[in-house]
Amino acid sequence: MKERMIVAVDGPAGSGKSSVSREVALRLGLTYIDSGALYRAVTWFYLEQRHGPLDASIDFGRELGAIALTQEFLPDGSSVTAVNGTDVSASIRDEAITKNIGVVSDAVPVRNFVNSLLRRWSSSRSIIMDGRDIGTVVFPDADVKIYLDASVDVRALRRIKEYGEMGKTLDENAVKNLIIQRDSQDKSRPFGRLVRAEDAICIDTSEMTRDGVIEEICRIILEQSATEPTPRERQ
Ligand code: C5P
Repeated sequence: MKERMIVAVDGPAGSGKSSVSREVALRLGLTYIDSGALYRAVTWFYLEQRHGPLDASIDFGRELGAIALTQEFLPDGSSVTAVNGTDVSASIRDEAITKNIGVVSDAVPVRNFVNSLLRRWSSSRSIIMDGRDIGTVVFPDADVKIYLDASVDVRALRRIKEYGEMGKTLDENAVKNLIIQRDSQDKSRPFGRLVRAEDAICIDTSEMTRDGVIEEICRIILEQSATEPTPRERQ
């Protein structure tokens, strides 16, 4: 392995980015950084403050100075995300966050705030980071760029299974509609939108097992790590 590797994994909601990136990190000794959790954490902060739905008229840049975010990747593959010392890892998965996160992620000051943290956290270690704009905006010169995709149907079924394991039943059509809505919001954002980087390797996971995807990504990283210096390394 090279001394410092930056691996960017982008793709739509439910494509399996987070789950496979965590496992790849454990297998190759990288630190996993969950960028979506930071957008969720900022959304959590504003929801706590306002006790009501968030909309685009809010000046999300104003209070960013009052938000201290931390994230720790644990040896069991989980991450602990905290806002001003409060562990929000569970609460940022609530539906209220998912419903309100769009306007927060659209705000350019929030994106700049999150991006500078992501870059700072990656400055001295090898990382694998998942999100929507990691290979395009956060690390355009990443050593490896992966774009994970899967059909809406497959992503919906995965989500339903995931919630089923937690004892929750979800309506298939409602889940599909939410996925389509999030895709459209993530892809149409004026800044930092979800788009495949030209030099990203695209993996359609619809017909693949989770383990198959993990092995393929590990293979790509190891192959890349044994090759010529990347543009970032040459700088
Ligand atoms: O990855 P996750 O589903 O947790 O991301 C939640 C939301 O955070 C996305 O739907 C998107 O609005 C936002 N996000 C983003 N840019 C990223 C990661 C997440 O805008 N790099």
